[in-house]
Amino acid sequence: MYKILIRPVLFLFNPESVHNFVLFIVSKFSFLLPLFSMFYNPNSKNIFNISNLNFKNKLGLAAGFDKNGVALRFWDAIGFSHIEVGTVTPIAQQGNPKPRIFRLTSDKALINRLGFNNLGAEAIKKNIQKAKPLLKNGLIVGVNIGKNRDTPNINAYSDYTKCFIVLNDVADYFTINISSPNTKSLRDLQNKSFLSQLLSEIQNKNSELNKVLKPVFLKIAPDLEEEELITIYELVNLYSLTGIIATNTTISRENLLQNPLQQGGLSGKPLKNLSDKILYELNDLNLKFQNKKLNLIGVGGVFTKEDFQDKCNKGADLVQIYTGFIYEGPAIIKKILKN
Ligand SMILES: Cc1cc2nc3c(=O)[nH]c(=O)nc-3n(C[C@H](O)[C@H](O)[C@H](O)COP(=O)(O)O)c2cc1C
Repeated sequence: MYKILIRPVLFLFNPESVHNFVLFIVSKFSFLLPLFSMFYNPNSKNIFNISNLNFKNKLGLAAGFDKNGVALRFWDAIGFSHIEVGTVTPIAQQGNPKPRIFRLTSDKALINRLGFNNLGAEAIKKNIQKAKPLLKNGLIVGVNIGKNRDTPNINAYSDYTKCFIVLNDVADYFTINISSPNTKSLRDLQNKSFLSQLLSEIQNKNSELNKVLKPVFLKIAPDLEEEELITIYELVNLYSLTGIIATNTTISRENLLQNPLQQGGLSGKPLKNLSDKILYELNDLNLKFQNKKLNLIGVGGVFTKEDFQDKCNKGADLVQIYTGFIYEGPAIIKKILKN
């Protein structure tokens, strides 16, 4: 129904307006939740334990879809095992000038340069706090954190730790986002000296605030060279993070049928091979460092059960989707998870 009736109408309008409209509907009309649940929830009964968190299946909604955590009950009702709220910054910010999301329909892709528009850590904490007691299906709520646009990289660690402190009580896990291409110089935080300082500060705060360390993932770009990837892998291990999310959007424009020459991060089908390659290399590192294996979350270009299975075969413990959900609609969850 989505692909035949709803998507053609939604795709007539500006992508960001449609996004906000859909989020509004699914967050406000809570009486519809049982209906959504009946149609879309695959009711998977497996348990995948990662860092003491019980995921009811391996499929989650990637960061950036519900940046402010306004529709958590909906994601729970339709059957995702987890969602990543954010990217959250300490202070609310508007993001880049509009328009800033573009559909590449023939490529089944999107380009976005939103630039971390969000309500800020305190407001988002309240949204999660309000929704969590109402979740019925065990949705795990991760919080993806970043820095404000005006914070220079030299002080970036302080923005990340501020978010960590504010959201510590409501986040089931954290993701440190250093890989969005839409905040100037953010991806420089992937270099060794910045990253060492950042991970060390976060884990110090983590052990100060929590008896048992809260799970922390690092989300990386798909455009990294092999040596950079090895350095990142070693640091994530050194600072005892839970694992790595591979990957964010790409700045590459290879193999596109249409190229609107828009700046920003490319997601969807054309990202699949790039993000799979990074996942494969991380899994290879895991095989070499058997005693300190990292958990891996695969994201990028998942549209079908085969794409999902591909990520699992390449070493993903969990898989996330974003663009596939826009193109295929909520029925994608059952399609991917059915036996
Ligand atoms: C419109 C849009 C906004 C996004 N915002 C964020 C974000 O705020 N933080 C983040 O870590 N990733 C963000 N992402 C990246 C996604 O979480 C995901 O890593 C990427 O889109 C690849 O997955 P996909 O091919 O399934 O879309 C965003 C992606 C899109 C399309």
